[in-house]
Amino acid sequence: MSNIPKHIAIIMDGNGRWAKKRGWPRVKGHERGAEVVRDITTFCANHNEIKVLTLYAFSTENWKRPKSEVNFLMRLLDRYLKNELKTYQKEEVRFETIGDLSPFSDALKKRIDLVKEETKDNKKLTQVLALNYGGRDEIVRAANRACKEGIKVTQDNFDNFLDSSNLGDVDILIRTGGEKRLSNFLLWRAAYAELFFTNTMWPDFTTKELESIIKEFKLRERRFGGI
Ligand code: IPE
Ligand code: IPE
Ligand code: MG
Repeated sequence: MSNIPKHIAIIMDGNGRWAKKRGWPRVKGHERGAEVVRDITTFCANHNEIKVLTLYAFSTENWKRPKSEVNFLMRLLDRYLKNELKTYQKEEVRFETIGDLSPFSDALKKRIDLVKEETKDNKKLTQVLALNYGGRDEIVRAANRACKEGIKVTQDNFDNFLDSSNLGDVDILIRTGGEKRLSNFLLWRAAYAELFFTNTMWPDFTTKELESIIKEFKLRERRFGGI
């Protein structure tokens, strides 16, 4: 029996380099990248086996970037959520987030909550945006939640305290943009994910390339430590 790609997670990297190569400002790459998010999400919503798509959009380390780029990304996110609500509804996609939203503006937090609320009954796919997300931060916040409730954590109950509780482990983890590292993404959930690294910059990533990754994933032998 072949593997089922229930949960796909993507490190959407390479936007800045994609734009620079064309002599454009880095933010152009983010803009084009947002369009790719729509295409990939629509593809996943219409794929029977994919239930969760987690996309790394802003890391806990990305605050180190110039203020102008950070501000652009925040505005882009707001615009994306506003414009794409119709896509979420049409494609029956539920919108969720992981990460610590507390540093975001009230207006952006309100937008995020609104889209979550409006899409909460959609069943074809859950699209999870990782926003101000860090794998270590998620684990530390989870540990503190458990501590506060006086619960001794186990590998099974720890799930309940994570931002990503109920999302299930990652089956396929893709990084575009050519770098071969996790950059603090999903440290807990990706323990047994199958890894795929592609040199394609995120704005050039296509559903066709995703299809070929899924095809290769299905042929891989996942042993989970067994034989
Ligand atoms: C990824 O693309 C998007 C975010 C981190 C928001 P980059 O902006 O990191 O693009 P490169 O890696 O500099 O090309
Ligand atoms: C990872 O990309 C974060 C996102 C894609 C949101 P980065 O571009 O921030 O990662 P590094 O700095 O190359 O490791
Ligand atoms: Mg990068």
